[in-house]
Amino acid sequence: MALLEVRDLKVYFPVYGGVFRRVIDRVKAVDGVSLSIEPGQTYGLVGESGSGKTTTGRAIIGLNPVTAGQILFQGEDIGKGMRRSRSKFRRDIQMIFQDPYSSLNPKKRVLDIVAEPLRNFERLSAGEEKRRVQELLTQVGLSAETIHKYPHEFSGGQRQRIGIARAIALKPKLIIADEPVSSLDVSVQAQVLNFMQDIQKELNLTYLFISHDLGIIRHMCDYIGIMYKGRHVEQGTTRDIFENPQHIYTKRLLAAIPDLDPRQREKRQRLRQTIRLEYEEAYSRYFDQEGLAYDLKPLSTTHFAALPERG
Ligand SMILES: Nc1ncnc2c1ncn2[C@@H]1O[C@H](COP(=O)(O)OP(=O)(O)OP(=O)(O)O)[C@@H](O)[C@H]1O
Ligand SMILES: [Mg+2]
Repeated sequence: MALLEVRDLKVYFPVYGGVFRRVIDRVKAVDGVSLSIEPGQTYGLVGESGSGKTTTGRAIIGLNPVTAGQILFQGEDIGKGMRRSRSKFRRDIQMIFQDPYSSLNPKKRVLDIVAEPLRNFERLSAGEEKRRVQELLTQVGLSAETIHKYPHEFSGGQRQRIGIARAIALKPKLIIADEPVSSLDVSVQAQVLNFMQDIQKELNLTYLFISHDLGIIRHMCDYIGIMYKGRHVEQGTTRDIFENPQHIYTKRLLAAIPDLDPRQREKRQRLRQTIRLEYEEAYSRYFDQEGLAYDLKPLSTTHFAALPERG
């Protein structure tokens, strides 16, 4: 059974205007997203800024309202914003945020930051709590003595490790990682990503991994969903997406990856050529009149693309 299944999720935000601040429009931030993640796997959400990646993640964890659709966790409906039914899942789903500088309260010591979820869900004595936090810090590669320090005393990579310690404190099953390394120096990114992979194996974690960096997505993910304007334009295994991209938007994203590997250069050149040829007719072939993608159609058991006709 899938650990997480999202069915036709829609998240619309009201837009207020006029003298009376009435709702005059709505932003369809997420407009029909379906995905499922097997236990222990990593599902990558990729797409340009504003395509609805963060909104999808926040809706799953209950930070954004769900306008329509279903979110199933281990086959059970999490419910639409019903706080009570969600609380049952609050332990099991945690989030790692993009910016460890702003997601960690600068006025709090590491002990209080990492202990926060424990205080919400478990009754531990001060001694037990301290021991648990020290264990968690050691687990993420920080020294147990750092519990009395403040966030500004750490480097960016260390700060993200503190965020990870907080996220795993309750032994969750699913972690939603929203651009977890994009605010870090490139030299530190790989370290944190590899650490995330190690801890995934160790704790049997499932990840929903959000990034706009296809290189990182390729490194981290088993399955990938390409988002465009609140929808998926393509979905498939990492191999489907990188070896056999079908939607023009996916091809454009792939062609834009810098040429680091010379063996990939030729492949990318060919991709660019097809894109140029297809571009003329792209909008009529891949998008409807409003520039929206068609519904996903199956190309294989794992690969789906938003094309007007099968094949
Ligand atoms: N609380 C909100 N109220 C109104 N509109 C919102 C809200 N949150 C997000 N949006 C809008 O929803 C759309 C999707 O935003 P979202 O943050 O999910 O995109 P994203 O793919 O995560 O982008 P980025 O790569 O920049 O993080 C955007 O148009 C955004 O302005
Ligand atoms: Mg985002």
